[in-house]
Formats: sequence, structure tokens, C-alpha cells
Amino acid sequence: MKATELLKRQHDEVKAILKLLEKANGQTNALLEKLANNIAAHMVIEQELFYPAVLKVKESLVLEGYEEHAVARFALKRLMKSSPDDHTFKAKVTTLREILEHHMEEEEDELFPRADKELGENSEGLAEEMKALFQQTVKAGYARTIGRGGPAVTSAVAPDVHVG
Ligand SMILES: [Fe+2]
Ligand SMILES: [Fe+2]
Repeated sequence: MKATELLKRQHDEVKAILKLLEKANGQTNALLEKLANNIAAHMVIEQELFYPAVLKVKESLVLEGYEEHAVARFALKRLMKSSPDDHTFKAKVTTLREILEHHMEEEEDELFPRADKELGENSEGLAEEMKALFQQTVKAGYARTIGRGGPAVTSAVAPDVHVG
């Protein structure tokens, strides 16, 4: 499987969980945890492995990706701190969904096609590495990842690489 195909599948999974969450009444804790683990681990594999590998294809897009992750992480943290009984809960889910939909659309439409060309036959090896890091990050739990100093936070600063 290509690296971009793996990421796209993860996007679809996150979209499906968000839909369920918007419809869910009451029983949301397991869904919330699944959502947070999926988003946190997805951001880690992009920031640690995918973005650095494709930084050269369009640096401005990749740098935007890091910034949008920081915004999404902020919205996710606010959601995780709120109670499903709170009258702002649904607004928080919807806001997170809108931020992520915009971000995923940009990745899929603008970054991924260029990334496929750049990565060529290295894409499958990268996908295997990404899969392993994803599983490892989900296992550690989202709190370790998006909390103070966690990998999704520290690596939210784009690497200082200058390209032509
Ligand atoms: Fe992303
Ligand atoms: Fe993504």
C-alpha cells in the first residue's frame, strides 16, 4: 500500500467516527477515545515521517500542514476536556470536524498527488514504517501524544529545512 493510501484510509476512519459522534447521544466515551487516539497517532506519523519525506514537493503546503495540526490539536483538547452533557459539546465536535475536513481535503487534493510522484517506489516502505509508528502511538494513548511535550506537540514545529 502506498503511503498516501494509508493516510487517506485513516482520514476516512476519522470522518466516520466524527459522524457517529455528532449523532451519538450519551454513550460517547469510547468513541471519543477512539477519535483522539486516531487523530493523535495520524498527526504523529505525518509529522515524524510523511511530512519530512515530502517537504520538498511543496514546502508551503507542508508547513501549512504543521500549523493546521496545531489548530486541530487545540480543538481536540478542548473537546476532550468537555463533558458530553455540556451544551457546547456538539459545537466542539462540529468545529473539530470542520477544521479536519478542510485540512484533509487540502492534503488529499494538493499534497498527496505531488507526494506520490516524489516518493515513487519508496512509498510502500514508508507506509510500513508509518503503520508501525501509528500502532505504537495508539498503544501509548493520545494523552501521551498530545499532552505537554508529547510527540505531536514537539514535532508540530516544522523541521528547519531550506529548499530551493
Ligand atoms: Fe495532516
Ligand atoms: Fe492527514
